[in-house]
Amino acid sequence: MAYMIETEGLTKRFGEITAVDGLSLKVAEGEILALLGPNGAGKTTTVRLLSSILRPDAGWAKIAGHDVVEEGQVIRRKVGLLTEFPGLYLRMPALDYLTFFGESYGLAREEVKSRALRLLKDFGMEAESKKPLSTFSKGMRQKVALLRALIHDPPILFLDEPTSAMDPHSAKMVRDTIRELGHDRRTILLCTHNLTEAEYLADRLAIINHGRIVAQGRVGELKGQLLGPPLLELRLARPLDGLLSVVHELVEVESGDATWIRYRTPDPQSTNPILLRRLAQEGAEVVTLSEVSSSLEEVYLRIIGQKR
Ligand SMILES: Nc1ncnc2c1ncn2[C@@H]1O[C@H](COP(=O)(O)OP(=O)(O)OP(=O)(O)O)[C@@H](O)[C@H]1O
Ligand SMILES: [Mg+2]
Repeated sequence: MAYMIETEGLTKRFGEITAVDGLSLKVAEGEILALLGPNGAGKTTTVRLLSSILRPDAGWAKIAGHDVVEEGQVIRRKVGLLTEFPGLYLRMPALDYLTFFGESYGLAREEVKSRALRLLKDFGMEAESKKPLSTFSKGMRQKVALLRALIHDPPILFLDEPTSAMDPHSAKMVRDTIRELGHDRRTILLCTHNLTEAEYLADRLAIINHGRIVAQGRVGELKGQLLGPPLLELRLARPLDGLLSVVHELVEVESGDATWIRYRTPDPQSTNPILLRRLAQEGAEVVTLSEVSSSLEEVYLRIIGQKR
């Protein structure tokens, strides 16, 4: 299988610090991979290596089959990059800026201008298209930076914290856009601290700490691996003396008292009916039996906490 992003042993040092430490990663076409990790984990450095801005000290990376060291020019066309602190030419009007940027990829002026206009319109900034960027709010500037990453219609996007400066409404719009871009068979590497965003957008997560990938997989897989079987909660209509000792025989109880319990079982399909029959025999009336959903935050904190 051909990967759109592929790295092997990718390493970058800054003096004493190894910012990216033997990173091996594969991202298939059309996949959205979220790179999660604490401050200083090496996310931005990874993105800069993958977009030929930095040169690795060891290992290699290929983007759509092109080597990042040997073929920097090709990579630039294939990749749309939203950087952590995008610098914009503030004196330029939004439309001129995006057109100028598109032309720098060798695209025809008229084609790029109409694309820029459409993007501005889609992002609700049509009215501002002739205003200089210096008059734009932080969130609007961030949106222009995202449009700049899209102007040459690249098949691969690197988005470094795309919603960090945005209000909830704009953030949602950007997330929905990213999702649509993903549906378009675009390959996206998304760096984020926002776990809800990662869960909403990503097909797969890679958790990075001290420049190394410490866990990766689909959200559900990571939850299963790290948190075990899902936590279930059962509530009774009235207290039942000895509830805990009754259920202890059948499942692994995490907490509870005479009216409720939280427990886990590797095989809920067969265990739950037995448990309910047993409770009925004791005269207990079960009001609810539900799954307590575990958050990605639990998974993340467990991984980062463990491996620090
Ligand atoms: N140009 C540089 N010169 C020296 N050290 C650097 C440079 N760029 C990054 N580093 C160091 O490399 C490590 C990784 O930084 P990086 O910016 O990649 O982290 P990050 O995961 O993007 O963090 P954040 O979530 O805060 O954006 C940090 O220790 C950082 O101080
Ligand atoms: Mg960063």
